[in-house]
Amino acid sequence: MTYSIFVSRQIPLSQEDFPADWDVQTWPLHRSPSPSELREACHHCHGLISMLSDTIDREFFDACPKLKAVAQFAVGLNNIDLATARARSISISNTPDVLTEASANHAMALILSLARLLKPASLAASRGEWIGWEPLGFLGKDLSECRLAIIGLGRIGQALARKMHRAFGLEVLTLERPSLKLDQLDFPLQALPLDELLASADIVSLHVPLTSDTHHLLGARELALMKKDALLVNTARGEVIDQDALINRLKAGHFFGVGLDVTTPEPLPKEHPLYQFERVLITPHIASAETQTRRAMALMALNNLKRDLAR
Ligand code: DGY
Repeated sequence: MTYSIFVSRQIPLSQEDFPADWDVQTWPLHRSPSPSELREACHHCHGLISMLSDTIDREFFDACPKLKAVAQFAVGLNNIDLATARARSISISNTPDVLTEASANHAMALILSLARLLKPASLAASRGEWIGWEPLGFLGKDLSECRLAIIGLGRIGQALARKMHRAFGLEVLTLERPSLKLDQLDFPLQALPLDELLASADIVSLHVPLTSDTHHLLGARELALMKKDALLVNTARGEVIDQDALINRLKAGHFFGVGLDVTTPEPLPKEHPLYQFERVLITPHIASAETQTRRAMALMALNNLKRDLAR
């Protein structure tokens, strides 16, 4: 059977990667399709390779009656109405594992940049404020002295914990959970309840999926519990932090550094107040953006789609 497939952004696949009998259309623009553009593009499609920026809700499924499978080019699925897909027997897949190391590497890069004040130091130099070698200038954090709290000890959280523990010998903490099997980990780890975890960590890194349970997991109360000179890194989803509460804490002088690869909304408009803080380092949702990783994600999404269309 000839399948009609839509790919909602250009990804590292060429025409030759797809089965010859598929009719594949790719969104041609350098921005995501709007919800109505996506519905219009997919109305006749059997399969979709989707991005985390796509709105795949009930209205989308209503508009695409032939749809059999959605292969998300990401691990997070929070943009997809999974319950409606399940009710309509539409297969949904994602790309776990292949992006674990790249995502953990980016969280690590943010932590190192914040701990060593790279953004404020670089801005100062480019403003002409580099007046000479300064014994007391831009003193960063001693990472080996820090306690790192990983919230969300899935594949990426574990990879970050392992890398940071091995590279800097720092102590790793995580959120206490009944399902946690500490003896199966290859690095030492202490589990604490949320409030205690936040109060005792020097670095907090978020790795939870966005669900109704994790929405605003760090709100005004939780952010206030954190050490005043803590580092906070979010490579999960913007909505896990109450961003307005974060801005209020930053205005009150809280945090040594905040690294955000994800924000609410995305893209974050250039006039957004978060850009005003020198100690806030924002990257445009690039945690998985390593060349081979993105190719592996693309191949995995394609294979997922082939498998699910064959069902
Ligand atoms: C994911 O896969 O969900 C990531 O956010 C992409 O970088």
